[in-house]
Amino acid sequence: MEMTKKLSDAFNKQVQAEMWSSNLYLSMAIYFMDMGLEGCANWMKKQAQEELEHAHRLIDYSSKRGGKARVSQIDEVPFEWESPQAVFEHVYKHECHVSELIDKLMDLAIAENDKATQEMLRWFVNEQVEEEETAKGILDKFAVYGVHGLYCIDHELGKR
Ligand code: FEO
Repeated sequence: MEMTKKLSDAFNKQVQAEMWSSNLYLSMAIYFMDMGLEGCANWMKKQAQEELEHAHRLIDYSSKRGGKARVSQIDEVPFEWESPQAVFEHVYKHECHVSELIDKLMDLAIAENDKATQEMLRWFVNEQVEEEETAKGILDKFAVYGVHGLYCIDHELGKR
């Protein structure tokens, strides 16, 4: 059974969202590189790479299931933030937003009675739990270490 057009279109929108996320994290990496915070930059570059992998995972699946995978134009991403902590607050907020998008995609797969796609999307549901938890964990470090702990945090994020 091929995936429905509705689902295929929704997958393409999610591909766009994942690629936008990748650009967002790359932009954050540049922000940190400019500040000389190489550990934070390293974390963001890896995050950007992961988002591209998410996009590819969606494209591969759609293509396998007879969908019409498409790559569309990606909107511009922000490039300025108030502080390193504000960047990670943005990461957390953004990941919560992506979780909502994935939930909506799952709702559609259920409405379309496409069990294979529901199964495939379960990976993303679990991934989002991890994504939110990781971002929250970094924010907790800012709360515990305070501004003076920035170099400790940078060192830790360099190990990703
Ligand atoms: Fe692909 Fe960070 O969500």
